[in-house]
Amino acid sequence: MTTRILGIESSCDETAAAVVADGQEILSSIVASQVGIHRKYGGVVPELASREHLRSIVPVVREALERAGLKFKDIDAIGVTYGPGLVGSLLVGLTYGKVLANALGKPLVGVNHLEGHVRAVFLEAFIGGQKPSLPAVCLIVSGGHTVLYEVAAAGPMEPFAATPLRYSKIGQTRDDAAGEAYDKVARLLGLGYPGGPIIDRLAAHGAETGRTHAEQIDFGATKIKGNPYDFSFSGIKTAVLYYIRAHPELQPEIEERRGALSRGKRKADELLPLCSAQTLGLVASFQKRVVTELVRRTLEAAEKSAAQSILVSGGVAANSELRHSFGCEAKRRGFEVFFPSRELSTDNAAMIAAAAYPKLVAGQLADLSLNAEAVLPLA
Ligand code: KG4
Ligand code: ZN
Repeated sequence: MTTRILGIESSCDETAAAVVADGQEILSSIVASQVGIHRKYGGVVPELASREHLRSIVPVVREALERAGLKFKDIDAIGVTYGPGLVGSLLVGLTYGKVLANALGKPLVGVNHLEGHVRAVFLEAFIGGQKPSLPAVCLIVSGGHTVLYEVAAAGPMEPFAATPLRYSKIGQTRDDAAGEAYDKVARLLGLGYPGGPIIDRLAAHGAETGRTHAEQIDFGATKIKGNPYDFSFSGIKTAVLYYIRAHPELQPEIEERRGALSRGKRKADELLPLCSAQTLGLVASFQKRVVTELVRRTLEAAEKSAAQSILVSGGVAANSELRHSFGCEAKRRGFEVFFPSRELSTDNAAMIAAAAYPKLVAGQLADLSLNAEAVLPLA
């Protein structure tokens, strides 16, 4: 018998709902992004985020059911993110999930958002007919998180989608998340918000046209005392800031791009003609440095551990250079690497429904006392 879980996600600035069958088949996945609301502030404004979630939650859930061709009564359980994230945002999805579960008399499963990102990799692997080997090292890299886990099976692996997982944290960022660094650098350079997708596109041009300029930028060594698998991105971001300060000739183009953004021109092909080779080189070298840090530390962690494969998830996992670089390096060192599709890399509710499935199978249900947790370790 098929088990259909309605997943609900509202931890940050995406209101999302999805229906997933047996933890592996996506019947629908709806994501209402608030990026247009937060863009003018250059980052997520918590109060605005919760207000938007309130507006979107009911229509988003309704659409997820409609697209799946289902009614509320056809759902077997509700999986909802209860942390980590913005408490005001989490509360909207969580409260709606609780109300639905209570009103429909269906089981409620609380999901850690980070576990959702891990299960997103499995969801994608199912689509491709694969099963990542465990134990694995998993890098979750987004606007809010940059963290490395060792992921092992904590019970029977059949059916694979119901495999309970055990996580041990092996490293994390000491300061900014990688996506946060992308967003801040984009803001400094007048490239809009969010920074990741636009820098990703422009960096490809910088690698061709800006190489000589890129070589002028000194990011210095990222020295981290203690754990060799910790990350640090604030120094890389500050190096970009200092470079911009030391190169006043960049100011007019930055202003020009800010003007273009305020007129709604924010696509890569609209901003590209407003970027000098120097800017493209700067963007390319910033990205190269971030990608190198992420890939190097993750592979070192994988080599030191018993990992058989590498999983990469979270918004920054959508990055082209990161995917390419992980693909090459992992192959060279004999690891298989798994990414979700770009849609499943960024926040979505299909990954939440998929993460709820093993918990439902194991009878780990929540009740109405489940509360939103801003900080929620993955244990
Ligand atoms: O996972 P996500 O949707 O939300 C969080 O949980 O944070 O990740 C959003 C982050 C943003 O910082 C965004 O700039 C970054 O992911 N991002 C990217 C790319 N697409 C999104 N960073 C680099 N390259 C991309 N292609
Ligand atoms: Zn996320």
